[in-house]
Amino acid sequence: MATKYDSESLRLKSLRYLWMHNRDWVQMAEDGEPMIAMEGQGVRIIDSEGKSWIDVNGGYNSVNVGYGRQEIVDAAYEQMMNLAYYPAGTVNVPAVQLAEKLASLTPGSLNRVFPVSGGSEANETALKIARAYHKRRGDSGRYKVISRRGSYHGTTAGVLWLGGVSPSIREDFDPMYPGMVYAPQPNPYHCELGGETPSECAVRCAEAIETLIRSHGPETVAAVIAEPISAASGAAVPGDEYWPMLRDICDRYGVLLIADEVITGFGRTGETFAVEHWDVVPDIMTVAKGIISSYLPLAATIVKSEVADAFAGGDNYLRHALTFSGHPVSAAASLRNIEIIEQEGMVENARDVGAYLKEQLDGLSGDHPIIGDVRGIGLLAALEVVQDRDTKTHFPAEAEIPKRLNERFKKYGLILRTSNPIISIGPPICITRSEVDEIVHGLDLSLWELEGELGIAQLA
Ligand SMILES: Cc1ncc(COP(=O)(O)O)c(C=O)c1O
Repeated sequence: MATKYDSESLRLKSLRYLWMHNRDWVQMAEDGEPMIAMEGQGVRIIDSEGKSWIDVNGGYNSVNVGYGRQEIVDAAYEQMMNLAYYPAGTVNVPAVQLAEKLASLTPGSLNRVFPVSGGSEANETALKIARAYHKRRGDSGRYKVISRRGSYHGTTAGVLWLGGVSPSIREDFDPMYPGMVYAPQPNPYHCELGGETPSECAVRCAEAIETLIRSHGPETVAAVIAEPISAASGAAVPGDEYWPMLRDICDRYGVLLIADEVITGFGRTGETFAVEHWDVVPDIMTVAKGIISSYLPLAATIVKSEVADAFAGGDNYLRHALTFSGHPVSAAASLRNIEIIEQEGMVENARDVGAYLKEQLDGLSGDHPIIGDVRGIGLLAALEVVQDRDTKTHFPAEAEIPKRLNERFKKYGLILRTSNPIISIGPPICITRSEVDEIVHGLDLSLWELEGELGIAQLA
């Protein structure tokens, strides 16, 4: 297929007409980019010049079942032939079936499903539901939302202000959406509150949320939103105390707990949903990416019955509609995608192969002095690059570590980019051990070359 297109002409047209994510097209032109993806199978992509790559982060940690699954294509095709679209003011068969399936998969009484098209929309929907829920209960002063520094919850105008990966992603868009309150991230490697163990960090960071609720006044706080394990903070797994404490704090102050499972959902961490690691049931769960392995746009906001019931009867319904919400083709494809995850034991694979990946990365850390931390769970993992392991300091910007690493990743056939000291690894959850070996080998060579240039390489 690669020969059907003139690769260079496509590249030039993309530089001229396409607005690509978080990249400067002038710089891309100078670097001979973009790569044009043509075909995908499993964890691999073939580009327009016929070169094969491993997609280390499976799209945006989103192609859970891997590329090229004909069954999903067939499900979408059949549905498109039957009924290509119908709005969600009423219903279509796959949308109902998907809602029932999600209610059965999610823990506790998370039974009411609002389908949307992407993770940002799912979180926008969750925030609207949280505020409207409190209003329905006569608690109309509750509008603030607590999120954690270092988290990411999306890019649209409201959720952009949640969390905070780096100030630059929002400094062009001031003023801030009202009611945003920030808490520390329970990242044991860089505990903002000085916790020296994962547990100590978890307890201090959860207590900080209680302090924020009390100081702002619980009557002003609508919700706490958090990813169970923050990919944006480099797969920062909180100590085991954190999520049960969050649940308890939110219950005591009547604050809704929103778990953003956009990346962690559908098996990535070795459980179907990451909150299951701690047996916690949030009031609202948002899911995207793995729900359909990115074959089509789909996400959902899933709400506990006790919360959804506030919208039942009288004139209480939620004022919220989206043209593509409940799209039958996406719903049909998602059902087939979930069936594949279940039938092929991909959650278990994420657990087993994830443990293997962690072992291999720990091994790399023994050989590479610039690896400060290896963290993650299941197939959500990361390495943090440091200049000094003892002080955990990063290299200065002038050292251009991300750029130099990205060049090497490219050389070794890894689709992997970093823009900060964290190298994220979240491949399709169908990945095998030998494919993990290929990734780790590419990382090893990349790090080794960089350390050679920095004059700090050591013999393995
Ligand atoms: C945890 C989390 N929440 C929300 C989003 C936003 O999802 P989307 O890009 O589909 O809008 C992302 C995207 O990466 C995410 O990682």
